[in-house]
Amino acid sequence: MTETVHLTINRLTVETTRGATVLDAAGAIGIDIPTLCYDPRCAPNGLCRMCVVEATGARLLQAACVTRAVEGMTITTESPRITRARRTVLEMLAASTDLSETPDALAQIAETGADIARFAGGRERRPPVVADNPMFVRDYAKCILCWRCVQVCAEDAQYAFAINFDGRGFDTQIATFFGKPLPETTCVFCGQCVGVCPSGALKPLRAWELEHPDGPAA
Ligand code: FES
Repeated sequence: MTETVHLTINRLTVETTRGATVLDAAGAIGIDIPTLCYDPRCAPNGLCRMCVVEATGARLLQAACVTRAVEGMTITTESPRITRARRTVLEMLAASTDLSETPDALAQIAETGADIARFAGGRERRPPVVADNPMFVRDYAKCILCWRCVQVCAEDAQYAFAINFDGRGFDTQIATFFGKPLPETTCVFCGQCVGVCPSGALKPLRAWELEHPDGPAA
């Protein structure tokens, strides 16, 4: 028998099933919580912090995509503190990453009034485009580190384990093991990573070539 739990979101009582997240419960009653790294096709990781909400009893903001709904929980999805947090996430992301092909981030920048010049002058992540195979191109200057590609390459779908996080802190990026070209890894070129990429960091080679008629990727 499926167990139900009851919680309050923005003063509305919601009934959901045990195991559902706050994001699931809010969505079920039409409350839209913004997300960036979350994709319903992938296991959530709570990496980007765009979906933060206030939960009664919790001092810190909670990521709705990974917070399980529990009986009696009280959630607020909009407040000045939440907006400030989401805005800061976007401002820091914009300072380091090319968001020109991340529509969800651009929409949230407009929605929250984020000042994308707030951290101007900081370091930008602009690694060279990688075109080491005949199938797709990796442009990690556009990567928002959502981790979806890593997950579909691993337990969420393909079990190929060709890519993972590399580096630490600001220098974190997605990479193959030992930086090997993709054809020398366990990649099977299924293309699922391209399918879940939300930011234009992964593209079919042909699409890339059409956008860059002046020359192939480096
Ligand atoms: Fe929840 Fe990214 S959408 S942390």
